[in-house]
Amino acid sequence: MTDVLKDKIAIVTGGAKGLGAAVAAELASEGAIVVVTDIDGDGAAKTAEGLNRGESAVLDVRDDAAVGALVEDVVSRHGNLDIMVANAGIATVTSVAEMDFETWRSVLAVNLDGVFSSVRYAGRAMAASGGGSIITMASITGFAGSPLIAHYAAAKAAVISLTQTAAVELRGHGVRVNAICPGFIGTDLVLDRASQFEQGLGIDDFGAIINQAQGRLGDVSDVAPLAAFLASDRSRFSNGSAFVVDGGMSASLV
Ligand SMILES: NC(=O)c1ccc[n+]([C@@H]2O[C@H](COP(=O)([O-])OP(=O)(O)OC[C@H]3O[C@@H](n4cnc5c(N)ncnc54)[C@H](O)[C@@H]3O)[C@@H](O)[C@H]2O)c1
Repeated sequence: MTDVLKDKIAIVTGGAKGLGAAVAAELASEGAIVVVTDIDGDGAAKTAEGLNRGESAVLDVRDDAAVGALVEDVVSRHGNLDIMVANAGIATVTSVAEMDFETWRSVLAVNLDGVFSSVRYAGRAMAASGGGSIITMASITGFAGSPLIAHYAAAKAAVISLTQTAAVELRGHGVRVNAICPGFIGTDLVLDRASQFEQGLGIDDFGAIINQAQGRLGDVSDVAPLAAFLASDRSRFSNGSAFVVDGGMSASLV
């Protein structure tokens, strides 16, 4: 533990488990006061209980007004907001041709619209108080074709674009906006869908494909320290960037 985020006020969306929970723990271990939010309020509370000075709130990022109200509440109680981690995300597994419109929309609603709401309200609050750091949880799927998760990948590509534009627009207000692009990390999001990928892609062992591409399945601890770095002033010259954490997967054609 260091004090590099001492007394910084942070919001993490989708913090009940997986990457969000790990990022919340990392920020708190660096001294931040973290408001853990999730559509799963009990899960968010459980994550927050494990943190030094953790707080929690129920938040569905699809509810734009609720995201605004949460940011306003945090600012009114703590004086300002320093860090927003727009992490909440979902995935389903279907080919483009077989995907129905509702499924397409449901993933975009969380993975893109939810990030838009998180960025815009946090950006506004941070600009008003003189600065801050916004981190979006994108994915390497935002850079390439991603079979069976077109909606997810399209949302991630759009999140990278949103991150770049917000970074440029907010730069003059001292607000930085950066994206983290993980490869395949061993959370429920991936592990619960391995058999669907195997079925849809006609392969026997999804894990073996991941091992070949990344060397191994990623762990949340491979990603969380990058979020703390981007949240802190140590990354002060990084803005509008997309940081890949994928064991080299996207660096290789074979
Ligand atoms: N696991 C990976 O391999 C991987 C790779 C790249 C990017 N990501 C991204 O990282 C983020 C976190 O994913 P994860 O792997 O930890 O998944 P996860 O399924 O373990 O956790 C996702 C969390 O988001 C919450 N959530 C879902 N819908 C929500 C909503 N509408 N409002 C608020 N919270 C909601 C869930 O309740 C859950 O706690 C996502 O944006 C995901 O796309 C994950």
